[in-house]
Parts: sequence; C-alpha cells; structure tokens
Amino acid sequence: MTNVVHIKPGNFTLYVDEGESVLDAALRQEFIFPYSCQSAVCGTCGGTILQGQVEYYDPEAVELTEEEEEEGIALFCSAMPKSDLIIQVDGVIAPPNLPTVSLPYHIKYQQDLSSKMLQLMLYPEGNDHIHYRAGQYIYLHNSKGQKQAYSVTNAPSSDCHIELHVRHTQDNEFTNTLLADIAANEVVTIEGPCGLTLFRPKAKRPILMIAGGSGFTQMKSLFEQSINIHNELPIHLFWVVREKDDFYSELPELWQQQYEHFQFTPVLSREHDSWEGASGRIYEVAHQHYPDFSNHQVYASGPGEMVKATLEHMQQHGLHQQFMYADALEE
Ligand code: FES
Repeated sequence: MTNVVHIKPGNFTLYVDEGESVLDAALRQEFIFPYSCQSAVCGTCGGTILQGQVEYYDPEAVELTEEEEEEGIALFCSAMPKSDLIIQVDGVIAPPNLPTVSLPYHIKYQQDLSSKMLQLMLYPEGNDHIHYRAGQYIYLHNSKGQKQAYSVTNAPSSDCHIELHVRHTQDNEFTNTLLADIAANEVVTIEGPCGLTLFRPKAKRPILMIAGGSGFTQMKSLFEQSINIHNELPIHLFWVVREKDDFYSELPELWQQQYEHFQFTPVLSREHDSWEGASGRIYEVAHQHYPDFSNHQVYASGPGEMVKATLEHMQQHGLHQQFMYADALEE
C-alpha cells in the first residue's frame, strides 16, 4: 500500500511505499530532504506531523523524548507512515525546482579516458554543494573567466562529488587553462544545475538512449540513476562515434554483461575495414532494430544536428513528441 504525504511549507506531495521511510521515499523521488545519520539520532531530518501517524523501524533507537513525540515531532529517516500524512519539514526542495547556484569546487584530474577525453572529479570546497538530478548539466568556469557547459557524468552521490568527461585537444584554450588550474590547485566555480532531460520512470515504456560522441556522458548519468531507483524497463543504448578509438568507455559492455534489461549497440558513423559492427546514421541503425517507435521513450544527447535528425526520423516512425527527451530540443 502507498501512503500520500503532503509536505509543508512547500505543499509538495510524496508517495511512500509500504515499509519505506519518508526520507527513503523522498530521495527515491529525487527530492532534496535534510538528513545526516539516517539512524534516528542526529535530528537533521526532523519535522512535525500535523496529521496522520507513523511507526519506526526500531522505536528503541529513536532519539526523541516522550514530550517531543506527543508534540508530533518525528525523525523522518526512520519514520514510516501508517496512514496518509501532512508533515512540516524545513529545507525540502521538490524536483525539478532545484535552484541554480554558483559554488566553489576543488577539481582533480582522474585519468585520460582516451587520447581526447579526460575524466575529472570535482568536490565541494565548502559545506554547500550543487543539488542536481541525473541528466542535468553544469557550467564549469576556469580561472580566466571562461565557461563551458558539461553534462554531469554521474548520478547524484552521497559524497556530493561531480564527475565530468571533458574533451581536450592541445589547441583548446579552455581546457588548457583548466589543466593549468588543476596543476596550480586552483578552486574553480561551478554553476548549475541546468537542463530538463531527467530520468522519467513513470513513463512505463522501453527506453532508447541515443548518444553521439561525448553525449555518452549524459546517458551514463541517466543509466546510473535508473539503477539507483531499481528501474527494470528495457534500455537499449546506441552510441555513435567516428573512429573505433572514440569509444572511450567500456562501461556499456560491462552493463550489458551485468544487467539483463540493458542492451548496447556501438555504431561507427562511417564504414571501416576493421569494424564488423553497425555503421551509418544512428537513427537508421536504431530503425533496423525497431521498425516502429510508438511504444518507446527516447533520450538523446550529442551534436544538436544529429539529435534533431534522429528524433525527427523517429517521430516519422511513430515516436510521440512527449516521450522525446533531449537538451537540444530546448535550444
Ligand atoms: S538523519 Fe539523523 S535523525 Fe534522521
């Protein structure tokens, strides 16, 4: 049974499954909800029950006095609704209203993913961090005041780090400055989150992910989120690049081995003698697998022209506009 929880003062609605705490449901549905210990001790997740009743996993462990409980105070990391609830909790933010902010981050070079792609990790410099949802992007500012948009490559994590895959060539002024910033241990500014290409599990349709080049980064974040929320809808990733070496990550192959519901088709945009896989336009390759797209939802990322041509083609073959998700459609 699912209970409905209304959260004030924001007037948000949350759906909590049987045996689930209010906090777990909020995080699963990508709310920002204050918490820390997650074991009914620190009080960070505390609020007031205005209507309804809760029970606790382990009532003995709950650090509340009798008086506090009588006043309706509850610790929502451990409180499970016994009925529909109206609660008051400060600091809750509902998706997708995550505010865009600029914050300092410490940036760390992780590794070369290929001759052109760097993996960077960013950690918040202060106590605050950017709240984002899988599929969103940020602007990274270098010390010369230049900025560049990058998809966040990881789904939100408990240590609040941000992973970026950054394309770098020797003559790229932005990334040259960035690498100098990293070497000098500079703190950089991140601005975000931006974008509305978010994982939509409520659209119960098989998922096609279309990635062109570094557009893979956004698909990685969305796929990680799908795993975090235990999505089992079939997902088929098509990733197109120019040269074989441009497949800079082996993760899709690993996911394919690990998850039955995940399928991967690598595509080269041109034929090569040493390549036996699919080649050509990505939408033509997808079309060979799916003659009709009317039951699918599609996430697409990569060069704007490619994304638009792909979605247009799919739309001509049944894809409904409301199930197309791509930042390129917002440009
Ligand atoms: S998060 Fe610490 S008491 Fe709930």
